[in-house]
Amino acid sequence: MSTFEIIQQQLKVEPKTWLITGVAGFVGSNLLEALLKLNQRVVGLDNFSTGHQRNLNEVQNLVTAEQWARLNFINGDIRDIATCHQVCDGVDYVLHQAALGSVPRSIEDPISTNQSNIDGFLNMLVAARDKQVKRFVYAASSSTYGDHPDLPKEESKIGRPLSPYAVTKLVNEFYAEVFARTYGFNTIGLRYFNIFGRRQDPDGAYAAVIPRWTAAMIKNEPVYINGDGKTSRDFCYVDNAVQANLLAATIESKDAVNQVYNVAVGDQTDLGQLYFYLRDSLSACFPHLREGQPVYRDFRAGDVRHSLADISKAKQLLGYRPTHRIVEGLREAMHWYVGHLS
Ligand SMILES: NC(=O)c1ccc[n+]([C@@H]2O[C@H](COP(=O)([O-])OP(=O)(O)OC[C@H]3O[C@@H](n4cnc5c(N)ncnc54)[C@H](O)[C@@H]3O)[C@@H](O)[C@H]2O)c1
Repeated sequence: MSTFEIIQQQLKVEPKTWLITGVAGFVGSNLLEALLKLNQRVVGLDNFSTGHQRNLNEVQNLVTAEQWARLNFINGDIRDIATCHQVCDGVDYVLHQAALGSVPRSIEDPISTNQSNIDGFLNMLVAARDKQVKRFVYAASSSTYGDHPDLPKEESKIGRPLSPYAVTKLVNEFYAEVFARTYGFNTIGLRYFNIFGRRQDPDGAYAAVIPRWTAAMIKNEPVYINGDGKTSRDFCYVDNAVQANLLAATIESKDAVNQVYNVAVGDQTDLGQLYFYLRDSLSACFPHLREGQPVYRDFRAGDVRHSLADISKAKQLLGYRPTHRIVEGLREAMHWYVGHLS
């Protein structure tokens, strides 16, 4: 049995109380679904800045009425310290996802990004420390590797940040480390690498590449590749990220705590390849895509050129075993988008 299977069994026998910030967002709502299905008690916080009520509604339809009743949702903001204290009360584990994502958004509006991602993050750390939460797991980011040239990315070797967003995620790691050192507080940072899957928002100027292209293909609109198509990413299906969060929250080994981990698969896919993966998996339902071609345009400011994770640290210390590589993840994600967008 895998570590993740063992943990899921233990949680069912002895349910815990979890706080998910950003619960109405993409990753947050997937964490909610997984925890409610394990009969956990969940406090959920969101201000709906980029999250949606429809994500919560969908989770409600996927769980039983009894499981849904174990969610206490609070419409509130992590920039308000009183709210942070309120939601941390009586909580065992925090899964902190709330933040303003997107590199381009942070370039256009660094102040808003800073307020949610640094001020809000610090509020959450202080509140979780004050309420003696057992473990604070937070969404870090592969953007922290910045301009470091090495591939694959190892946790200990980071470069200079390339965007305001990357600065905020790096500062999160500094604060978490300092809270461990000065207050003996337990944190784990998960450096997500391009997470994708059901409920990732396809709309808006700051949508991530997979949902944006999928929606464009389904609507028969042009698909734009920024750059020459050789820019690469380690695309990671959301179920792998859910697994990493549950492992990080519950792992008992002291060596594993107060660390940061890459959360990815360890596969490098360039944007040109990604285009054809999406086109091929959607063309069965949408014949107009069979001859489709992308439109190339300029590189985008702030983007890292190549990204590929070394996931051996998470494997070794957390028992992380990704269940989905990109193609398996895309199959599930496309099934969801076809059902929801067409
Ligand atoms: N999706 C990815 O590929 C990826 C990659 C690296 C890091 N991350 C990080 O993972 C986390 C989750 O990302 P996501 O893709 O689910 O994004 P998302 O935008 O879908 O979810 C973020 C949620 O946080 C909420 N939120 C934002 N600011 C808030 C505030 N001030 N108070 C309360 N709620 C607030 C939003 O309304 C939203 O529901 C973020 O911290 C993001 O930076 C995501």
